[in-house]
Amino acid sequence: MLVFGTRPEAIKMCPLVNELKSRPGIETVVCVTGQHRQMLDMVLRTFDVVPDYDLSIMKDRQTLFDLGTGILTGMEPVLRQEKPDVVLVHGDTSTTLFTAMAAFYLQIPVGHVEAGLRTYNIYSPYPEEFNRQTVSIISRFNFAPTQTARENLLREMRDDKNIYVTGNTGIDALRTTVRKDYTHPELEWASDSRLILVEVHRRESLGEPMARMFRAIRRVAEEHPDIKVIYPIHLNPAVREIAGRELTGMDRIRLIEPLDVLDFHNFMARCHLILTDSGGIQEEAPSLGKPVLVMRDTTERPEGVAAGTLKLVGTDEERIYDCFRQLLEDPDAYAAMAEASNPYGDGYASRRIADILERELEE
Ligand code: UD1
Ligand code: UDP
Repeated sequence: MLVFGTRPEAIKMCPLVNELKSRPGIETVVCVTGQHRQMLDMVLRTFDVVPDYDLSIMKDRQTLFDLGTGILTGMEPVLRQEKPDVVLVHGDTSTTLFTAMAAFYLQIPVGHVEAGLRTYNIYSPYPEEFNRQTVSIISRFNFAPTQTARENLLREMRDDKNIYVTGNTGIDALRTTVRKDYTHPELEWASDSRLILVEVHRRESLGEPMARMFRAIRRVAEEHPDIKVIYPIHLNPAVREIAGRELTGMDRIRLIEPLDVLDFHNFMARCHLILTDSGGIQEEAPSLGKPVLVMRDTTERPEGVAAGTLKLVGTDEERIYDCFRQLLEDPDAYAAMAEASNPYGDGYASRRIADILERELEE
C-alpha cells in the first residue's frame, strides 16, 4: 500500500504506483490522505492514478494537530481492512510521519521512499526534519536517493542491509514531463525577457521571513526592466496573503494559480533562474541546469549545492537582494551555476524500488 497526501509526495509516488501496478506479482493499493486537495488532485490526474482510499482530511488553515489526529484515526481502519505486507510512505510531511506511526502501531512494515535526507536541525525545515528522522526509526526498507543519504542513515546506526540507494523518484517524473515543443500563454508573455520563477511556501518561512523574501524579489525586479517574474502561488491562504501584500501592483510580476506538474517542469526548463524554499525543486533544477537561490537557512540537498546549481541564501532581505542581483548582472557567476548535472539519479528509481520489493517480499 502506498500512502501520500501532498503535491510533492504525489509527484514522487505516482511513478512508483504505476511501476508497481505493472508487476503482476504485486497487489498495489493506493491511499491518499487528502492533506492537500486541489494540488494533490492535479497530480493524480496528470499521472492517471485513481486512489482506492481517500481520507479527505484537508481543512482550511489546518494545524499540525489537525493533520496528526486526522491521519492517525483515518489510517487505522484502512490498514486493518487491507492488512498490507508493506506500507510505503514518502519524504517528510505530516502524512508521512503519521501514516508510518499508524503502520507501526499495527506492526506492519514500513518502506520509506526518499529516506536519509537530513539537516540535523529539527526546527529547519519545520516540522519536516523531525518527521523524516522519526520515520527512519520505524522503517524496514529505506530507499535512499543518494550515497549521502545512505551515509546519514548509517551514522544513525540503521542497518546497512535495510538501506537501498535507488536515485530519486522525482527524476523519474521529470523524464516524462519536459517537452521541446511545449508552449503556454504565460511563457509567451515572458518571451521578451529573462523569466524568473518563484515558489515559496514553507511553514517556517510564513510571516516576516516570507515578507523579506518578497521585498527583495520586488526590489530587484523594479531595478531590472529585462526580467519578468512568475510565481505560481501555493494554495495556503497564509502564503497568499503575504504575496498579495508584497508582490502585487507591478506589471512584470505575475502571481498565478499553481501549475500542473507538467506545466511547472516545462516552465522550469524555460526559465532563467529560480528563487524558492521548496525541497523538490532543489532536486529537479540541477537536471535542467537552472540556478536556484534557496531562500532557507539549511538544506537537506547538499548534492545540489556541491554540483554548483544551488546556493543557500537564507532569509535576510539584503542578502537575497545581493545574490539575486549578482546572478542577473554577472554572466560568469550565472554560467558557474547553470551547468546541468544530475546528482539525484537516472530516472529509473521506481523500477529499482519495485525490483527490491518484489525480491524482498517474496523472501
Ligand atoms: C505541506 C507539508 C510540507 C510540504 C508542502 C508541499 C506538512 C506539515 N507540510 O505543507 O512539508 O513541503 O505540503 O506543498 O506536512 N491548501 C489548499 N489546497 C491544497 C493545498 C493546500 O487549500 O491543495 C491550503 C489549506 O488551507 C491548508 C493549507 O493550504 O490548510 C496548508 O496546507 P498543509 O498541507 O497543512 O501545509 P503546506 O504548507 O502545504
Ligand atoms: N510544482 C508544481 N506546480 C507548481 C509549483 C511546483 O507541480 O506550481 C512541483 C515542483 O516541480 C516539485 C514539487 O511541486 O516537483 C514541489 O512541491 P512543493 O514545493 O509544494 O513541496 P516541497 O518539495 O517543498 O516539499
